[in-house]
Amino acid sequence: MTRFSKIGFILAAAGSAIGLGGIWKFPYVVGQSGGGAFVLVFIMAFLVFGLSVFIVEMILGRASERDCFSTFESLAPKGQKYLKYGGVMMFSGVVIFSFYVVVLGWLMHYMVLSLIGLPKSLESTQALWEHFVGEQVGYQILWHFVIVALCTLVLGQGVKKGIERLNLVLMPLLLIIFLALLGYAMCQSAFVDSVRFLFAPDFSKLTPKVIVDAIGQAFFALSLGVGVILTYSNSLPKKGNFIRSALIVALMNFAFCLVAGLVIFTFIFGYGATPDKGPGLVFVSLPLIFANMGLSGQIIAFLFFVALIFAGITSAVSMLEPLNAWLIERFSFSRKKANFTTIGISYVLGVLLLLSNVVLYQENLSFFGKKLFDWFDYVSTSYMLPLAGVFLCVFVGWVLPKSQVYAMCEGHLSGMVFKTWYFIVRYIAPVGIVVAMVRLGIENL
Ligand code: TRP
Repeated sequence: MTRFSKIGFILAAAGSAIGLGGIWKFPYVVGQSGGGAFVLVFIMAFLVFGLSVFIVEMILGRASERDCFSTFESLAPKGQKYLKYGGVMMFSGVVIFSFYVVVLGWLMHYMVLSLIGLPKSLESTQALWEHFVGEQVGYQILWHFVIVALCTLVLGQGVKKGIERLNLVLMPLLLIIFLALLGYAMCQSAFVDSVRFLFAPDFSKLTPKVIVDAIGQAFFALSLGVGVILTYSNSLPKKGNFIRSALIVALMNFAFCLVAGLVIFTFIFGYGATPDKGPGLVFVSLPLIFANMGLSGQIIAFLFFVALIFAGITSAVSMLEPLNAWLIERFSFSRKKANFTTIGISYVLGVLLLLSNVVLYQENLSFFGKKLFDWFDYVSTSYMLPLAGVFLCVFVGWVLPKSQVYAMCEGHLSGMVFKTWYFIVRYIAPVGIVVAMVRLGIENL
């Protein structure tokens, strides 16, 4: 088996985690949920739910060194082989990939537009966005294809040569762009407002909804519940403190979310836009601001879209890997055949999702008042990921004997830290996730 190098694993896991979720979704959830109060809860959710389940996936992958399905099968106690069906979690990778690459295609289009010139008034920016998503099928299909082709190229090279190398290049570039954007933002007077918005908690806004959103966001941001971390962990180098790697990945991801928030809100406040604009934040509010900043705005807009694309591509290539690994290991597929199968299916689904936003086809591709595109997002984030999270916690917290779990931690989690983590995995995380799932499910329906 080709193993990651240690830094390769950290970058690949961070590459998977840091994506549109952190940079695109986080700021708008913060905007909707009252700023600092949300960030505070997010930190806790991130540590309690995110990091704990991240470690669960890691120890499982390390212990079995197998694909996701076989991991549950081989570790399950005798007579409980049905637990292998927990492996179905890897199919959510296809669901997420399908809509995720559509968004990446939109970002490509906007990256090009930022070079040509973006419109300067709110009406025309809004109209541009609606026209693009609702009518310009050709462009969307083109960009979607470009992104899927890029992912195919990377995945075709396998874990070490493809995924690891891609992350070795793109992650440092992403960091540089982000530091440049942060530097620029820090020189603006609105930076202070941005800091205040993100860090001054208004406890009156701490509703159950905020807490639930934070749990969902922590899960999505860390790429949990698909088996990505589990699959990546089975090619971790044998030596080394993997818990430290988990901490580094989580902290990197967290830092990126915050920096993205700081940068975005500096622009938003500096130009008098409101922070809670939904996904329109990236495709309407920000382009409008950039367009009115002159040349510097054009450069920033370009860098911003490039950064989002880099962050997104490194996440996208991870999503199909659990399924690929399974097809290769279980059914002796060649990597090529596995890739073409998973990417082929996601490609067709992606085109359907993209069309479901198009005015002409919307009616035929909407079910129960929701577009297919929104269904995919809704079902995967509100149900599939949380259900997998609960399964992971129950498997490690209740099914496996404690002594086995302790041994799987290989001394890297011990004493009080092990006890606390184990307690969270057994009680707090599953209950919290179920409560969050039910509420999120009802709210977003
Ligand atoms: N973490 C990624 C992001 O923030 C998205 C994501 C969610 C993901 N679940 C995943 C990526 C599972 C890979 C696998 O954008």
